[in-house]
Amino acid sequence: MPRLAINVDHVATVRQARLAPEPDPVAAAMFAELAGAHGIVVHLREDRRHIQDRDVAVLRKTVKTKLNLEMAATAEMVEIARKIKPDVATLVPEKRQELTTEGGLDVAVFESSLQGTVEALHGSGIAVSLFIDPDAKHIKAARRLEADYVELHTGAFAEAKSFADRQEQFERLVTAARLAKKLELGVHAGHGVDYLNILWLKNITEIEEYSIGHSIIARAVLVGMDRAVREMLQLIG
Ligand code: PXP
Repeated sequence: MPRLAINVDHVATVRQARLAPEPDPVAAAMFAELAGAHGIVVHLREDRRHIQDRDVAVLRKTVKTKLNLEMAATAEMVEIARKIKPDVATLVPEKRQELTTEGGLDVAVFESSLQGTVEALHGSGIAVSLFIDPDAKHIKAARRLEADYVELHTGAFAEAKSFADRQEQFERLVTAARLAKKLELGVHAGHGVDYLNILWLKNITEIEEYSIGHSIIARAVLVGMDRAVREMLQLIG
């Protein structure tokens, strides 16, 4: 069965809306783990719009499964990661104006500048995942960079407006997942994964881990974190 990692950024978004102490993403992470989640993901953004430095530090002490820190490949973030030592660092592109991470990292173009970041993280014992669009050129570059995982961006698939487009985007993910696995990269997937489209994605057996935020937190607001996580685990399994 693939693993399910829960992104709790949205919990911090609600907290920051009032600059209040609650709801605490640390508490949300605990409930997610108690419901059976296999990992916790947070994105510490340059502008600190949701997750704060304190959250990452406390989560490092409280997460019992695996902590995956999403981050831009900047000197500031590398320094924080090397101090906190998450189990995995997922490198993502970051733009200040975006609502959420929009595209994958252009590993093919920025290969040489990413080299130092990957090496610095590896040097601190942190596994590295690269969030990429499902294209062979990025997967091959990730292999050359000796990344441990690629996280395939499922956004284009999730947002497809027609059945034909969805099928085309699904095939791209299948091809990419197969290539990554063949090149001995671990395969994660995420962005826009929900309780309906997971029924397509679960057929891609190369995917070892899903990173899901919005759909699960949105459901958790209404039915509780425990039920929201368990329902997704049931669909994945
Ligand atoms: N993976 C990455 C790299 C992301 O940036 C995000 C969004 O924070 C997710 C997964 C989760 O996406 P969603 O919130 O749409 O489930």
